[in-house]
Amino acid sequence: MNEQTKDDLEKLENPFEDEEIARQWINSVENEKGMIRDNDIYPKLENWTKTFKPKVILDIGSGQGICADHVQSGEVRYLGVEPSPVLVERAKELYTKENRDFMVGNAYALPIAAGSVDMAFSVNVWFHLDDLDTPSKELSRVLERGGKFLIITANPKTYDLWRSMYFDATEDKKKIDGKVNVPINPMSRNIFYKHTLEEIEAQLTGNGLVISGEEEFGSVFPFRDRPVFICITGHKK
Ligand SMILES: C[S@@+](CC[C@H](N)C(=O)[O-])C[C@H]1O[C@@H](n2cnc3c(N)ncnc32)[C@H](O)[C@@H]1O
Repeated sequence: MNEQTKDDLEKLENPFEDEEIARQWINSVENEKGMIRDNDIYPKLENWTKTFKPKVILDIGSGQGICADHVQSGEVRYLGVEPSPVLVERAKELYTKENRDFMVGNAYALPIAAGSVDMAFSVNVWFHLDDLDTPSKELSRVLERGGKFLIITANPKTYDLWRSMYFDATEDKKKIDGKVNVPINPMSRNIFYKHTLEEIEAQLTGNGLVISGEEEFGSVFPFRDRPVFICITGHKK
């Protein structure tokens, strides 16, 4: 990597917007088989959408698009919003289907009309965000009254395990910034914010959202008794 590219990467608030890092993420997700995503995350998404039978479902931070196949069936319309153009392009390449749109956009200013979705979810995005107030406000804005939400994020009780995946990393208050080992390959830069559960909850409930469930789940060898994710569900008042 030349100096110019390295400087540009270090300035990015969301490293996934760097092309090389987006490709590292694509390689990891697409080669992760029979692990925590297949065993824990996708079944949770499938059960949740089957229970509520939405009409329009929004995926905030949709990455390379894989979650679309785990939430959309029948006539459901799926909208994926993702800031990295490389990941959006990959999503279109692999997962284009009827009633499905992948678009470049950001959780801080969703390109979605107010009250236009009846279900919204976000998987492993919340811990990448510094400010949780604006995305929570945006989530609330796009949901119709009574619309459901689901957020899967890092379980604050296991931040020590998440921290141990980072190397060559700096830590400043709640921010970890450095290289990280994701299941299949390392990523050259990633940012993680150690928000407390109370902070996450307060931003959701302070923005017109009601939390109805919190479930810790998913474990990594050898820490079988330490769920690394938390799934927060609820609805808009
Ligand atoms: C670990 S990946 C998860 C991708 C996808 N949700 C999945 O589970 O396959 C984190 C994603 O969060 C996205 N992200 C980071 N900051 C974001 C923001 N401000 N708004 C929306 N997405 C963001 C990244 O671009 C990246 O695609």
